[in-house]
Amino acid sequence: MIIVENLTKIFATKTERVVAVDGVGFTVEAGEMVTLLGPSGCGKTTTLRCVAGLERPHGGRIQVDNSPVVDVEAKTFVPPQSRNLGMVFQSYAIWPHMTVYENVAYALEGKKISRAEIKKRTMEALELVQLTGFAERPAPRLSGGQQQRVAIARALAGRPKALLFDEPLSNLDARLRGEMRSELRRLQQQVGLTSIYVTHDQSEALAISDWIIVMRGGRIVERGRPTEIYRTPHSLFTAHFIGNTNLIRGRVDAVDRAAGMVKVETALGPMSGLDPNGDLKDGDAVRLSIRPEDMHLAGDANDGGGNVIAGRVVVATFQGSAVEAELACGGETIQCHFGRDADLPRGSEIRLEFDPKASIVLRDEPLEDEGSVAGGDD
Ligand SMILES: Nc1ncnc2c1ncn2[C@@H]1O[C@H](COP(=O)(O)OP(=O)(O)OP(=O)(O)O)[C@@H](O)[C@H]1O
Ligand SMILES: [Mg+2]
Repeated sequence: MIIVENLTKIFATKTERVVAVDGVGFTVEAGEMVTLLGPSGCGKTTTLRCVAGLERPHGGRIQVDNSPVVDVEAKTFVPPQSRNLGMVFQSYAIWPHMTVYENVAYALEGKKISRAEIKKRTMEALELVQLTGFAERPAPRLSGGQQQRVAIARALAGRPKALLFDEPLSNLDARLRGEMRSELRRLQQQVGLTSIYVTHDQSEALAISDWIIVMRGGRIVERGRPTEIYRTPHSLFTAHFIGNTNLIRGRVDAVDRAAGMVKVETALGPMSGLDPNGDLKDGDAVRLSIRPEDMHLAGDANDGGGNVIAGRVVVATFQGSAVEAELACGGETIQCHFGRDADLPRGSEIRLEFDPKASIVLRDEPLEDEGSVAGGDD
C-alpha cells in the first residue's frame, strides 16, 4: 500500500518558480493499479518521481507498506535504492550490449542473492512477460514492445513492493500500444502488483486502471473508477479531457435537490440533467456534457421523459460497427454515434433524444484549449 499526503514540489530557477505538485494526496491499496492522468505539465511525472525517491519534495509525506519513505517535517528521506520500488519509463532503458537474460539478471546482481536464485527469478520474470524463448537474444534485436517487456521483467525480478510506470507505452505504435495495454493489465492483475501508472492518454487510463486520479496544474481534480470518471465526471475539465463529449452551454433554471437533477435553459431549448456535485443554484452558468453514444434518434412520438433537440446532418460516416454523425443544432455542432444501420443522408432533418441521467450538468469554467487559459499548465 502507498499513501501520499499533502505532497508539494517546487522547481525554482532564476526567472521562475513552478509549483509542479501542489498538495497532492492519494492512497494506492495493495494490488491496485492507480493512474495519474492529466495534460502535459500537470505534475504526474514529478509526483511519481517523489514516490520513487528521484525528487525531494518540499512538503508532505509518503508511506510504502506502512513505513515512511519521505516525511519532510520529520526530515525523513529514504534513498531510492532502499525503497524497493520497480520503475518502468517511456524509454526502454535496456542495455544494448547484453542479452535479454543479462538485462533482467543484472538488476539482481550485488544484492546478496545466489546465482541459482538469480536464475530462478530472472526466468520467472521473463515468463511473466512471455519472453522465455528470447532469453539468449541480444536485447537490441527485439521489437519496441519486446524491449519494453524486458524493462518490465527487470522491474519485476527485483520483487518490488510496488511498480511505478511513467508513460511506458508512448514510444510504441498504436497497434502495439493496444496489445501492451491488455498485457500490462493481465500482468498487474495476475501478479497482484500495487502500481502507480502515469499517462496523458485517457483511453489508456480507462483501460488499465482500478482508479483514475485526474490532475491539473499540480493538483488533483477528482478521482474515481474508470466507468464513473467517464460516465459521471464531476468537473467540466474531466468531462472535456476524457473521451469525446458534447458540451452545451446553459444556465440553471430550477433545482430539484432531492432528485439530484436540475433544469437548464440552453440555446437549444430547455433540458434536464444530473448535478453530480449537488451544489448548483438557479442562474449558475453551466455546460451539459452528453457523450455521443448517449444520443439517440428520437421516435415520432416523444414519451416526454427525455431531452430532445432538432438538428441537420452535416456529415455521417459509416465506421463498421457504428455510424458517426455530425449535426448542426442551432449554432452548435453535435457529435452522435448511432447503430450501424442508421441511414442519415446529408442535409436531412432529425430529432435527437437523450436521457437526463446521461446529461451531466457541470459548472462552467475556462478550458485551456478554448483560448482563455486557466491554471498554470503549459
Ligand atoms: N527539473 C525541472 N526543473 C524545472 N521545472 C520542472 C522540472 N521538472 C518538471 N518541471 C515543471 O514542473 C511541471 C510538472 O512537470 P511534470 O514533468 O511533472 O509534468 P507531467 O504531468 O509529467 O507532464 P508530461 O505529460 O508532459 O510528461 C511542469 O511545469 C514542468 O515544466
Ligand atoms: Mg511526464
